[in-house]
Amino acid sequence: MKRIMVTGGAGFIGSAFVRYQLRAYPDVHIVNFDKLTYAGNLDNVREADPARHIFVRGDIADFDALYTALNGCDAVVNFAAESHVDRSILGASEFLDTNVRGVYNIVEAARRLEVQHVLLVSTDEVYGSISEGSFKETDRLNPRNPYSAAKAGGELVGMSYYHTFNVPVVVTRGSNTYGPYQYPEKVLPLFVTNALDNEPLPLYKGGERNVRDWLYVDDHARGIDVALRRGTPGEVYNIAGGNERENITLTRKILALTGKDESLIKLVADRPGHDRRYSIDAGKLRGLGWRSEMDWDQGVTETVHWYQENEWWWRKIKSGEFREYYQRQYGNR
Ligand code: NAD
Ligand code: DAU
Repeated sequence: MKRIMVTGGAGFIGSAFVRYQLRAYPDVHIVNFDKLTYAGNLDNVREADPARHIFVRGDIADFDALYTALNGCDAVVNFAAESHVDRSILGASEFLDTNVRGVYNIVEAARRLEVQHVLLVSTDEVYGSISEGSFKETDRLNPRNPYSAAKAGGELVGMSYYHTFNVPVVVTRGSNTYGPYQYPEKVLPLFVTNALDNEPLPLYKGGERNVRDWLYVDDHARGIDVALRRGTPGEVYNIAGGNERENITLTRKILALTGKDESLIKLVADRPGHDRRYSIDAGKLRGLGWRSEMDWDQGVTETVHWYQENEWWWRKIKSGEFREYYQRQYGNR
């Protein structure tokens, strides 16, 4: 693989994948195709070598722009998505445009251009909630919020292109990801940055004991790389952190690491349709040689330190659009 299009490469996980590719494969060139929505941020790839990293501002829902940028690439890895569950509850239209129509455009452009590798980044949320045990790739999909339903729709369109047109599509389903450069709407960076500012941590009441499986962002990026290079077209690979924690445990850990006490916790109305527990089995990807390497305690500690040391990155984000969103999301809760 010499020229890889990364869609959504200015976002959280996409930018980690870009950094990983440039570090691990000296011959690889990246075409980073990103719409720069509220979640896209060129600061995330500011250190990428311009000789090997071309940035194209574009929308995956715009077929012509996508087709033009993809021409000449031998692989495409799709990270571009509307990615926040709570925003999908406030309004789902853009989720369908990007997460379904956008993915259709990618596989259709890949079909016409005969691109050799197509990796669609998806999520463990497509399985829905599980009270015991862990989902395998063959389990049925049961997405329960507009975000995950749109992600499932994108996956299904993608896989239909494998079965119908032999487009070499591989899908990954990752668990809750954390690390540097995550937009501070997601629970971990929201709670860390609020704690640093002595602002309340809005923990969803009734969801304190809900469980997420935490995956460090560089482990996720490596898992996607393994699936891209060693995976079999037409197959799905789970990528699990192996670190299931209740939300209250994560919240207390953040308070301890920032030196704050529990009076900052503010129980607010629960997320409608809040999935209780996500859990997936990553044995299939481990069979290709991947492991989740980051220890949870160490990963969360390093991540909290990163936000403490990189206020320049998140302070400007937490003004402007973010303020307006925060008011809509938490104002009356
Ligand atoms: P993010 O919101 O941080 O970044 C999304 C990026 O996509 C942004 O740079 C944004 O500008 C870009 N984008 C959005 N719509 C676009 C469009 N129409 N055309 C081009 N670019 C567009 O998201 P993330 O957390 O980095 O997630 C990346 C991918 O991984 C998503 O597909 C998400 O569903 C999946 N995923 C995320 C997690 C997680 O915990 N964050 C876990 C599993 C899977
Ligand atoms: O599981 C993978 C998914 O993880 C990804 O596909 C999504 O893109 C990503 O956003 C994430 O979804 P979640 O909904 O699990 O993440 P979020 O950070 O929004 O919430 C994590 C948990 O914390 C969830 O149980 C809800 C709770 N929460 C979240 C927020 C934002 C709160 O209690 N309060 C909050 O303010």
